Amino acid sequence: MTTIPTTPIDGQKPGTSGLRKKARVFMEPHYLENFVQAIFDGIGGIAGKTLVLGGDGRFHNDVAVRTILRMAAANGAAKMIVGQGGLLSTPAASHLIRLHETDGGIILSASHNPGGIDEDFGIKFNTPNGGPAPESVTDAIYARTKTIDSYQILEGDAPDIDAIGNSTLGDMAVEIVDPVTDYADLMEELFDFAAIRALFADNFTMQFDAMNAITGPYGREILEDRLGAPKGTVVHDTPLPDFGGMHPDPNPTWAHELMDVMFADDGPDFGAASDGDGDRNMIVGRRCYVSPSDSLALIAAHATVAPGYKKGLSGVARSMPTSAAVDRVAAALDLPCFETPTGWKFFGNLMDDGQVALCGEESFGTGSDHIREKDGLWAVLMWLNIIAATGQGVAELLKAHWATYGRNYYSRHDFEAIPTDQADVVFDGLRDRLGDLVGQSFGDLTVSAADEFSYNDPVDGSVSHQQGLRVMFEDGARFVLRKSGTGTTGATLRLYLEILEDDPELLDQDAQDALANVIAAAHTILGFEAAIGRTTPDVVT
Ligand code: G6P
Ligand code: ZN
Repeated sequence: MTTIPTTPIDGQKPGTSGLRKKARVFMEPHYLENFVQAIFDGIGGIAGKTLVLGGDGRFHNDVAVRTILRMAAANGAAKMIVGQGGLLSTPAASHLIRLHETDGGIILSASHNPGGIDEDFGIKFNTPNGGPAPESVTDAIYARTKTIDSYQILEGDAPDIDAIGNSTLGDMAVEIVDPVTDYADLMEELFDFAAIRALFADNFTMQFDAMNAITGPYGREILEDRLGAPKGTVVHDTPLPDFGGMHPDPNPTWAHELMDVMFADDGPDFGAASDGDGDRNMIVGRRCYVSPSDSLALIAAHATVAPGYKKGLSGVARSMPTSAAVDRVAAALDLPCFETPTGWKFFGNLMDDGQVALCGEESFGTGSDHIREKDGLWAVLMWLNIIAATGQGVAELLKAHWATYGRNYYSRHDFEAIPTDQADVVFDGLRDRLGDLVGQSFGDLTVSAADEFSYNDPVDGSVSHQQGLRVMFEDGARFVLRKSGTGTTGATLRLYLEILEDDPELLDQDAQDALANVIAAAHTILGFEAAIGRTTPDVVT
């Protein structure tokens, strides 16, 4: 065991979902080691503890896994449970933490950000409930990065991480597990696999785009091997260190290959994609894109068809920028409905406390209390279960949903890699004007309220301030402005747009057309053109 002297490295502050930087930054001397030691120290040491470890297979994953194993052994950990090859999807890692009741886990991923030596890498700690560490924990980790003066590491090689089985490293036990089996078993408990198998046996066609990221092996095992979808249903199914150059973010912009397939003549009945680490999902029907907010609402309305949810949902939650479509379902079904800040970690307390069973975010995240992360394949299987149970396709299901509950037209416009000072001009400009906007009209929209969102956690009483700026209009339309907490280059401004429509004649419009007035009002108020020199977003969801 060696104690290596080190000095604090600036900027090791975890963002929305752990510490994310360019891979080359993580490759700088002591960078990874400092942060890992800060995690260990920040959670009160890991002597005698058991942790789960794995990542999405992006560049630097294997190197980091070996380093972390050597550091864990030197820090006195009792055992590390590691996905074979260092691979674990984020949902599978969350499940393993819960299944083995470990003291938490370390997940290596920059989620939906591109991978490769010149792209992103990331690391985060999940607590024993399987969920991302809350701010109290990440604050302690960050504080430790600012005072750290040494880290512990075992000299020599880490054990082989490619072979399933048990070994030791120093005094620490190392168990290499199949990354897929336990997770696939859990899915089989939650969903009606027989009904979905019958659907595929009846020539139902699907394309699942794993985007050369972690869900390839999971998709193959669950969809093709266990559910009988034809071989080739899962495409881009080998996790590659650079994701084969794909940007593994399942949205219409980055999953455009899937969108092309789904909007072509003779496309499959159903399409889906997941992200780098497998926690996001995009659902697409034939010529029919499903907004994540609608997906959440539709799942809330139909969840009881799945065996794991047949007793009903205790409650639902959505992040603040997510549309209020799910609120309508909750009101109709008399379910408690919570509005939290962006970030899956905010759902953890509500789920642990049994207050909500289903959660979702506009950022292509949906999941339930089966684990404490959002879960891409879970959402795909839930849709398949709903399709199998109702006998309706995606477009039919959506139409029926809107006819029952009305439609919350919704879109997110992203302006990426803006110089931070320019982004601040837009953001701070709106923040300063919030009070003055009320009562002002923009086109035929009049501002009824405007504020900066704060969240009081009803379970632990913590308060999170500055969680996004909201401008509400009189007829229920609104826009929200946030700065992304997951980007690594400059600032990304996210503009979330929503309008309610109850007129049965007006439920079938293009979302951008339906939102045109809100978009125009937002641009007038925000002054994008003057501040950042452009009005066209990089990504539209
Ligand atoms: C990660 C988190 C999500 C969150 C998203 C927001 O994916 O796991 O819970 O919604 O980041 O990212 P942003 O870039 O908008 O801060
Ligand atoms: Zn992700």
